[in-house]
Amino acid sequence: MTRASLEKDPSEVARMFDGVAARYDLTNDVQTGDTVLDIAAGTGTSSEPLADRGVRVVPADFSLGMLKVGRERRPDMAFTASDAMRLPFADASFDAVTMSFGLRNVADPAAALTEFRRVTRPGGRLVVCEFSRPVNGPFRRVYLNYLMRALPAIARRVSSSPDSYVYLAESIRAWPDQRELAGTIAVSGWHEVEWRNLSGGIVALHRAVAR
Ligand SMILES: C[S@@+](CC[C@H](N)C(=O)[O-])C[C@H]1O[C@@H](n2cnc3c(N)ncnc32)[C@H](O)[C@@H]1O
Repeated sequence: MTRASLEKDPSEVARMFDGVAARYDLTNDVQTGDTVLDIAAGTGTSSEPLADRGVRVVPADFSLGMLKVGRERRPDMAFTASDAMRLPFADASFDAVTMSFGLRNVADPAAALTEFRRVTRPGGRLVVCEFSRPVNGPFRRVYLNYLMRALPAIARRVSSSPDSYVYLAESIRAWPDQRELAGTIAVSGWHEVEWRNLSGGIVALHRAVAR
């Protein structure tokens, strides 16, 4: 099973966060009539609140299966097949780009972030929601050592796709912390990079501005 196919079955853990806060941050930044790229949108659950506010949102994903389900569910949204590292959009064509629970799965995150910058107009925004590193030391040790070991073990007993949980745990552990991801965003051409921790840093929202 490939990483990509595993990610077609979003875990309950990812669903728990559901990108709600990312959408909250983004909806504060964008206006009705703005055009927003929601990359790695899956079936479009992360795009819906934007579309429902009158934002022209383009849900994009490289999984044709996800796009098919999304189109059936929300025929009003402009689902588009695209790889985050090679976007089929012109330079400066979006007011904002958002990605929730997708960047961790991309083979070359810096290449994707550079593409996001290319398609964003000067002054436009980036919001990335992704698993990160709890900031409190004792909690971090419990989370990483116990939960990340317990999660795959429990999944092997109760889930029909335990590999998804093993991959989820491994990919979270291997992912850079808040500061390192902020650095990658900055070297990919973004400015004013900042982040906000959710649930003590289990998830982080990174924001940046294009100049
Ligand atoms: C966990 S889902 C996130 C769905 C949605 N953004 C949300 O927050 O509910 C991750 C999605 O990332 C997509 N994905 C992974 N790598 C990608 C890439 N390089 N380009 C486009 N989509 C990608 C997968 O196909 C999957 O639909």
